[in-house]
Amino acid sequence: MTSPELPGLLPELEVVRKDFPILERVLAGGVPLVYLDSANTSQKPQVVIDAMVDHLERHNANIARAMHQLGAESTVAFEAARDKVAAFIGAPERDEVIFTKNASEALNLAANTLAWAGDRQVGPGDEVVITEMEHHSNIVPWQLLTQRSGATLRWFGITDDGHLDLSTIDDLITERTKVVAVTWVSNMLGTINPIAEIARRAHQVGALVVVDASQAAPQLPIDLAAMPEDERPDLMAFTGHKVVGPTGIGVLWGRRAVLDQLPPFLGGGEMIETVRMDGSTYAPIPHKFEAGTPPIVEAIGLGAAVEYLGHLGMDAVHAHEQAITAYALDGLATVPGLTILGPTDAALRGGAIAFEIDGVHPHDIAQVLDSRGVAVRAGHHCAKPAHARFGVQSSTRMSSYLYTTPAEIDALVDGLEYTRSYFKLA
Ligand code: ALA
Repeated sequence: MTSPELPGLLPELEVVRKDFPILERVLAGGVPLVYLDSANTSQKPQVVIDAMVDHLERHNANIARAMHQLGAESTVAFEAARDKVAAFIGAPERDEVIFTKNASEALNLAANTLAWAGDRQVGPGDEVVITEMEHHSNIVPWQLLTQRSGATLRWFGITDDGHLDLSTIDDLITERTKVVAVTWVSNMLGTINPIAEIARRAHQVGALVVVDASQAAPQLPIDLAAMPEDERPDLMAFTGHKVVGPTGIGVLWGRRAVLDQLPPFLGGGEMIETVRMDGSTYAPIPHKFEAGTPPIVEAIGLGAAVEYLGHLGMDAVHAHEQAITAYALDGLATVPGLTILGPTDAALRGGAIAFEIDGVHPHDIAQVLDSRGVAVRAGHHCAKPAHARFGVQSSTRMSSYLYTTPAEIDALVDGLEYTRSYFKLA
């Protein structure tokens, strides 16, 4: 389904697509699947499926508890997955990678433990700064923290062209700021945010920088160790299912010095050093934050996923996303009455493109597209404040990934033309 050839596309795109069995699906009505919902969840290559099936068929056992051969194999595979994730993000230390259930849990871990974190503790008079373009997962935990602790929540606004309004940075990030939590790439507007600039300012005042990398990790090469110290986040969250891995597994990376300062989030098995009836002491990181039996096979799937992305090369994945995004922006611009929410320069944005068409409800657009095999998301994309900023309740969103072809974008644009005629728009 590849046409035309665009500079920047992944080489051998047709071969890469064959790694993803679901892309062969033919849907009801005999239409081929055109999957443009990867910001919601990405599809999975066969190597990920195989790694998980092989583990379940041949090695399944609990980790770090079972004194038998399968237990040892399972533990080795789980910890090898941690090594692969650490390599994928260039973590300075592999023990700084904490496995969680998803990015939401990782962000909740950060916000909840900061209520009790000694010198880092957020309390009355302190301020937490977020942005208006966050996913709800990077808003609600901070609302809960500030409501419970007596701190104040403040936020960056969004400019008309979909960027963070950094003109207020010196007013927002002050000596009172304890935490700055920001998304690297918006899941709704697609905006790539200047996290280095924000981190520099936050670190000048001693604030902690928490980055939601849920949409960045799938698309951008990340090398934490190579970042200048003052530009590197202190904590960074992302989820497995958007980086061609399975659901049920997320990651919180944190600087060792910060993770050591944070108290445990959940209590339970394997996160302890010792337990007495009058109190407990805790295991060092990462296990301090991994109470209970973790998502073992999911972590192994994630390890295979990031290894797969590493083989493709994240620079190449990013170039592909940019080429497809530029092509999609050009195609969408030809549809009468269509307005893109967010930056229209592909170099400044990721592959999620939310839009509206005058006179058609986003859900109707998604339904008509679905009847032609084109899968997009419609709704508020868990970003209600960002929608409110642009005076809309909801939008339709297409989101591409490393397997998206220009022909699939053509199918979307044709589908939108058809939608307009279906609803008899002039
Ligand atoms: N956060 C995911 C999305 O943007 C679920 O669709």
